[in-house]
Amino acid sequence: MVREKKLMKALAGETQAVPPVWMMRQAGRYLPEYRATRAKAGDFLSLCYTPDLAAEVTLQPIRRFGFDAAILFADILLVPQALGAELWFETGEGPRLSTVTTPGDLAALKDAQDIHDHLAPVYETVRILARELPDETALIGFAGAPWTVATYMIAGRGTPDQGPAHALIAEDRATFEALLERITEATIEYLSMQIEAGAETVKLFDSWAGSLKGEDFDKYALAPARRIIAALKARHPGTPVIAFPREANERYIGFAKATGADCVALDNSVSASWAAQNVQKDGCVQGNLAPKHMVTGGQALIDETRRVVEAFRGGPHIFNLGHGITPDADPENVALMVETLRAGG
Ligand code: CP3
Repeated sequence: MVREKKLMKALAGETQAVPPVWMMRQAGRYLPEYRATRAKAGDFLSLCYTPDLAAEVTLQPIRRFGFDAAILFADILLVPQALGAELWFETGEGPRLSTVTTPGDLAALKDAQDIHDHLAPVYETVRILARELPDETALIGFAGAPWTVATYMIAGRGTPDQGPAHALIAEDRATFEALLERITEATIEYLSMQIEAGAETVKLFDSWAGSLKGEDFDKYALAPARRIIAALKARHPGTPVIAFPREANERYIGFAKATGADCVALDNSVSASWAAQNVQKDGCVQGNLAPKHMVTGGQALIDETRRVVEAFRGGPHIFNLGHGITPDADPENVALMVETLRAGG
C-alpha cells in the first residue's frame, strides 16, 4: 500500500508532528552536482529546455537530502519567452528580456493557447519526474504570478522597486491590464499542462507582490491568483495550489480564502508566531526559515529550525525557507536542517 505523501497530507489540511520539508531553489548553484550538470548543458536556459538534464538537477537534492517534494526545474521567465519575448541571461547579472510597454509590443505577442510547442520540453521534464521520483516524494509544478512576470516583461530585467511596471500602470493602465490578462491566460494553460503531465500540486510565485499596495494589490495580485486557481480547480478538481505573495505582510491575512489557495507560502518579513495566529488559522502555510541560516549554520540554525516548527505545530505546515537558498549556502547546513526537523523539531 502506498503511504500518502506527507506534502499532500499537509496540503489537504492535516497537522503532522514532523512537517514535510523542501526548499525553494533546492536545485541550484550551492550544489556541486548542479554546477556540473549545468556545465554539461552549457547555459541555464539550455538546462531548462533539456528534459533529461532538467529532470536530473530536479532529482539531485532529493537524492542528497530526501526532501518530501521535488520542484520542477524551470524558470518563471520561460512563459514570456513562449509568448514571443526574447530572453537571455547576462552572466553574473541576471535575466534580460525584450520589453513590452506599448499596444504594438502587446500585439506582437502570441496568444496564450500558442505557448505549448515552445514549452513542450518542460512538460516532458514533468513526465520524466513523475516516473522517476521515489513513491513518497511529491512533484510540484510552478509558474510566476502574472504581476511578477509582468514586472520583468515591462522592465526587460529585474528591478529593485518594479518602477517601470508601476510607471506603466500610471501612464497606460489599459496596456498594462491587457498584458496582465495575456499572462494570466498563459499561466492557466501552462499550469494545466504541467498537471496533466504529472505535477501533483502547483505553486504560483508572486515574488514582487509586496510592491503592490491597496487596490493595486487586490486587482493585480489577488484577482489574478483567484482567477488562475478557479480555472485550475475547474479543470483539475483535487489538485492543490500553493500561493506565494512574497512580502504581502498584512495582506497575507485572508489571502488563502480570497484566492482559493490551499496553502500560502510565507517569506521572512513576517514572524512565524504572527503567521500562525493570523494566516495558519485559515489552513496550510509554508515557510519560513531565513535562507541565511543555510550559509551560517551552527546552533542558530538548529534553534531557528525548532522555533519555526514549534510556532506552526498547531496546524498544517510545510517546512521551507522564506525565499530561495543562495549560491553561497553550505550543503552540510541543509543536511543539518533536515536532520533537526526529523529528529522531532
Ligand atoms: O526552486 C527551484 O529549485 C525550482 C526552479 C526555479 C528557478 N527559478 C531556477 C533558477 C524556480 C521556482 C524559479 C523561480 C523564479 N525565477 C523566480 C521566483 C522566485 C524568486 O526567487 O523570487 C524569479 C523571480 C525568477 C527569475 C530569475 N531566474 C532570476 C531573477 C534569476 C537570476 C538570479 C539568480 O539567482 O541568478 C534566475 C535564474 C535561475 N532560476 C537560477 C535557478 C537555479 C540560477 C541560474 C544559474 O544556474 O545560473
